[in-house]
Amino acid sequence: MKRASMKLNVLIAISSAILVSCQSSTSVKSNDVEKRVEALLSQMTLEEKIGQMNQISPWDDPKAIAELIKKGEVGSILNVADAKTINAYQRTAVEQSRLGIPLIVGRDVIHGFKTIFPIPLGQAASFNPDLIEKGARIAAIEASSVGVRWTFAPMVDISRDPRWGRIAESLGEDTYLTSVLGAAMVKGFQGDSLNNPTSIAACPKHFVGYGAAEGGRDYNSTHIPERLLRNVYLPSFEAAAKAGAATYMTSFNDNDGIPASGNGYILKDVLRKEWGFDGFVVSDWASVGEMIAHGFCADGKEAALKAVNAGVDMEMVSYHYVNHLKELISEGKVKEETIDNAVRNILRVKFRLGLFENPYVDESKGDVLYAASHLEAAKEAAIESAVLLKNEGSVLPLGESVKTIAVIGPMADAPHDQMGTWVFDGDKNYTQTPLKALESAYGDKIKIVYAPGVSYSRDTNTGGIAAAVRAASSADVVLAFVGEESILSGEAHCLANLNLQGAQSALIEAVANTGKPLVTIVMAGRPLTIGKEAALSDALLYSFHPGTMGGPALADLLFGKSVPSGKLPVTFPKEVGQIPLYYSHNSTGRPFQGTETMLQDIPAEAGQTSLGNTSFYLDAGNDPLYPFGYGLSYSTFKYDNLKLSSEKLKEGDVLTVSFDLTNTGKYDATEVAQLYVQDRFGSVTRPVKELKRFERIALKSGESRSVSFSLPIEELAFWNIDMKKVVEAGDFNLWVGGDSRAALKGSFVVE
Ligand code: BGC
Repeated sequence: MKRASMKLNVLIAISSAILVSCQSSTSVKSNDVEKRVEALLSQMTLEEKIGQMNQISPWDDPKAIAELIKKGEVGSILNVADAKTINAYQRTAVEQSRLGIPLIVGRDVIHGFKTIFPIPLGQAASFNPDLIEKGARIAAIEASSVGVRWTFAPMVDISRDPRWGRIAESLGEDTYLTSVLGAAMVKGFQGDSLNNPTSIAACPKHFVGYGAAEGGRDYNSTHIPERLLRNVYLPSFEAAAKAGAATYMTSFNDNDGIPASGNGYILKDVLRKEWGFDGFVVSDWASVGEMIAHGFCADGKEAALKAVNAGVDMEMVSYHYVNHLKELISEGKVKEETIDNAVRNILRVKFRLGLFENPYVDESKGDVLYAASHLEAAKEAAIESAVLLKNEGSVLPLGESVKTIAVIGPMADAPHDQMGTWVFDGDKNYTQTPLKALESAYGDKIKIVYAPGVSYSRDTNTGGIAAAVRAASSADVVLAFVGEESILSGEAHCLANLNLQGAQSALIEAVANTGKPLVTIVMAGRPLTIGKEAALSDALLYSFHPGTMGGPALADLLFGKSVPSGKLPVTFPKEVGQIPLYYSHNSTGRPFQGTETMLQDIPAEAGQTSLGNTSFYLDAGNDPLYPFGYGLSYSTFKYDNLKLSSEKLKEGDVLTVSFDLTNTGKYDATEVAQLYVQDRFGSVTRPVKELKRFERIALKSGESRSVSFSLPIEELAFWNIDMKKVVEAGDFNLWVGGDSRAALKGSFVVE
């Protein structure tokens, strides 16, 4: 078919109804704030301006820090999280520095402050933006109660490599899902107005491409061409800008040879000019200085020069701005206007946060920490984050016939580890583990025999396995809690092997040999290659690291007080060698057919061309262990009666896709219905499918409902051969269903 391009004005197009509805007034410049910024700026010395651009992490000597703050040489601190210390630093800034400019206090509040929610990858499995917004709101309420008014979150890096430890902090592999959920987090952190004392400024990170680190090794180079960057890696950051994110953080990686903290195209042309961002950009930890190690700058002075000219407004902890900017200005290499603009951006956010009016925090307000309603919300989040991957013979939920359960595995009672990575403030004494939750909910009715088998995830000592086998033999059902300690994922914690660590696999094998029904629950920061253990188990429930309330959430799920509804936000590979493996890959010229001869079936001395020529691994095929979007329920669902509002559409139209969803099982349950679209032929090759809509739908057993998704045709736009964001006319396929292999199919044409 002849193809024409419908050009859309990218900047003004309504790219998504959902994203636009997230737009916050905080991004709108107010005259009042601008006047105050200018008035203050006009009184500042060059040293004071450079001071605002300096973020420090307090070291041992509070007196030395206070001196710097007094001199106006510090604009922000991070890594302090108690009200008394924060107030003391703030008092120095406000009452003892010449202009009294308050500090902005940052902290990594990634999935909760004290009340720890599931890791972001787990939360993403809920496919529930409301829940995620609520979690971020609670995190903001708790963090702001001690004076933290800025979080380094959400992390909206598209993450397609489970070897990369930071996949735990991400919202998964998908651009649309990450965009929707990341925007929800921004809304939750920032609330209705930044000015509200319970609001904390969000900081989408790491800008940009960090998740594509070569080989899944943290801090590594990325090689993302501009079209892929714009189609896959930038939209989640743009969605965060639309949601009103107050700040951005650069990333550690160099993309195509340019370190992110020196990338003026991304920071100025894309972020500010294209997206209209007017908050400030902070570097990642020492990433300005690290441009020397990258071989991009010869010394600290050049690093300061390249970073400031690229548009990094605030430098996190490497001091090249305070050490070199003045000299660079006197040499004419940096314009004073560049400094003024950076300071404007920083002051604008400080004014928006109301820090000048309310610099201090009420030190007696600690009662919001671990509030009952926060714990309840964290439990709900853990319930919705768990993904049921297998349930043979409906072994779950456990019924009344269960009189004795064996609880085994190193994660059954691991209060520190179930909180997951990036927990600086959560206290393990508040964690409710599965063992404790099961004992407290069922201990009086059911005999619970606890025999961990191995004591922590990496433990290679098999000495405890015999006791676990004895416990299993005495029980009606075995609950095996395995996975990863929290230290095995997160920053710099990458793995080349994603099998269960230590003797955990041997433990599963040994208890499976008892023949007792085996339910394996995995707590981990990433997809693990658990095909072997899945095969040995009757049921498999993946809860990621579920946070403070993981125990009660899992107890409810195991006994059917709640029904699993989570769906995988990331593809689970069978083998590490398959990575990267993601559902939304481009079509190849020789796609896998599924009928190929696999390794074991190849006859001896087979001829070179006898196997055919398609894209797959002889030993692993092409399919994942579990696909993106996948997750079972205790109930079952049927999708049928697909209808499209029209099969011929044009620019400006909205396609309505409707279908009937029926709960065909015995349980009231929630299904995450998903809509995928494929642009069949493009001016460049296009993904085999892309998620375009999803919705959680609660249905009573036997209930049927007509569901409809509205999809403005504009949302089919992509960056084409001419590097223009356009909807190209042509043929499209779509599917609705419960995962990325959805089978109910329709098609339409854009004319
Ligand atoms: C991480 C950031 C984090 C920052 C501050 C860096 O090492 O990459 O994600 O926000 O430290 O703690």
